[in-house]
Amino acid sequence: LKVAVLISGGGTNLQALIDEIEKGYINAEIKLVISSNKNAYGLIRAEKHNIPTIIVDRYNYSNKDKRQKMVLDTLEKNQIDLVVLAGYLEIISNEVIEGFRNRIINIHPSLIPSFSGRGYYGERVHQEAIARGVKVSGATVHFVNEETDGGPIIIQEAISVEYEDNEKTLQMKVLKLEHKILPQAVKLFSEGRIEVVKNRVRIMEGEE
Ligand code: GRF
Repeated sequence: LKVAVLISGGGTNLQALIDEIEKGYINAEIKLVISSNKNAYGLIRAEKHNIPTIIVDRYNYSNKDKRQKMVLDTLEKNQIDLVVLAGYLEIISNEVIEGFRNRIINIHPSLIPSFSGRGYYGERVHQEAIARGVKVSGATVHFVNEETDGGPIIIQEAISVEYEDNEKTLQMKVLKLEHKILPQAVKLFSEGRIEVVKNRVRIMEGEE
């Protein structure tokens, strides 16, 4: 399975995928890392594992549509089977979504539909969860469709939120979950065990 990972920041989710593939847990190859930020530490992580990287940012492509067209062309040229958004901060264009229907997955740091949708990313998610006083939060892996964070949910995992938690401790707890469920979702996809029926996902039994 040829995978492309799109990043904008630290790339700890990318690192989790690299590690699980190298351990042989996932039968896939990360062919390409595309970053919307030339300073993303995730680029260093990719380079350390000899994964080709491409920067598509507002400095080399000032127009958003041109950026997304560049992303689409790059994915098609590399015959990518699965696109993984791992902390990617740009909105994927409908053209890319159309071209890769139910072949783009995203990791979101809350239990969608809570704290999700346009404008909900990174710290803001955890700030609002703490402010709301939720007792449970978590992470979600879902397919990407035209509605931000609205695609079919593949995996969710929850953690308890203590009174002593703040947005930083919550972010760390949730990040650990992300590093677990994102590789799980890529593995399921690589084994063809994910079926989408309308907006719901059915996980089929595996060989073992
Ligand atoms: C994390 O907060 C994650 O929840 C979200 O993007 C952020 C960056 O993660 N998906 P990473 O360390 O760059 O993978």
